[in-house]
Amino acid sequence: MRTRVIGNVNVGAIGLGAMPMSVAGHMPDETQSIRTIHAALDAGVTLIDTADAYTPSADDIGHNERLVAKALALWSGDRDAVLVATKGGHTRTPGDGWDVDGRPVYLRQACERSLKALGVEAIGLYQHHRPDPAVPYEETVGAIRDLLDEGKIRMAGISNADPSQIRTAHEILGGRLASVQNEYSPRFRSSEPEIDVCAELGVAFLPWSPLGGMGAAGGLAGPFARVAAERGVSPQQVCLAWELARSPVVIPIPGASRPETIIDSVAAAELTLSEEELATLG
Ligand SMILES: NC(=O)c1ccc[n+]([C@@H]2O[C@H](COP(=O)([O-])OP(=O)(O)OC[C@H]3O[C@@H](n4cnc5c(N)ncnc54)[C@H](OP(=O)(O)O)[C@@H]3O)[C@@H](O)[C@H]2O)c1
Repeated sequence: MRTRVIGNVNVGAIGLGAMPMSVAGHMPDETQSIRTIHAALDAGVTLIDTADAYTPSADDIGHNERLVAKALALWSGDRDAVLVATKGGHTRTPGDGWDVDGRPVYLRQACERSLKALGVEAIGLYQHHRPDPAVPYEETVGAIRDLLDEGKIRMAGISNADPSQIRTAHEILGGRLASVQNEYSPRFRSSEPEIDVCAELGVAFLPWSPLGGMGAAGGLAGPFARVAAERGVSPQQVCLAWELARSPVVIPIPGASRPETIIDSVAAAELTLSEEELATLG
């Protein structure tokens, strides 16, 4: 697969978002999840995005990380070539709720828990999941910097950050901010300024929900469906190729819970859209 860069690591231009395999009510059984992750890896995916908070219930934190670790352990390919990106800073509350905790003491605990869940000595890419309004951002990112300095994490990223937070994080990390993960898709384009800041700083930008989230097909009607029909590919491939064309720093992480969907998405890495097609897509 065509590659792009996160920090000092080359990864396939399309990653796998593992979240749909740990969502209550939509979760496949473990065998299907492992088949999905193996299909992605066999197709050349070398970036898997997970988080401690991706879990079907608040009392099963780390569900998705353990799943990814198990699938990797059962895979016969080169595990060292796969970058597992996890996150800390979101908490789960009973009844499917989400909260945030950006305190340094909490992030340290969360990182230790993720190290165990992933079964590694150092996390490949650790992303702060979402700013906590109750904690100064500098303090939160300072905790991530300390984890980086101590070697608990190999690369540091942030998520759900605005342009000023991206610049703050880059500065506090001493120029070592490797990635920013924000929502971006044809129906959610308000992360354009963040993509521009990432391009300026040479930081990877990982669009989350790149297909518009669950029920993606509905949101990709209109020009995406038309270009797809002309090219004989899926609208999802056109969508991911459109994101790749936005900037060389963009690395989409489409979610999947079935082998078919991630195999289809991976093909977008080889799909180059013409200037005319890009103009049609807007
Ligand atoms: N940082 C954050 O705050 C944050 C928030 C949300 C998500 N994320 C990350 O972003 C990743 C992606 O987001 P997402 O999973 O919410 O949404 P998404 O990638 O926009 O959509 C995923 C859904 O689209 C379907 N799909 C994927 N590829 C397809 C294809 N080629 N053809 C048809 N359908 C396809 C999948 O179906 P099947 O399930 O049937 O395979 C899946 O349910 C997540 O997995 C997670 O890692 C991060």
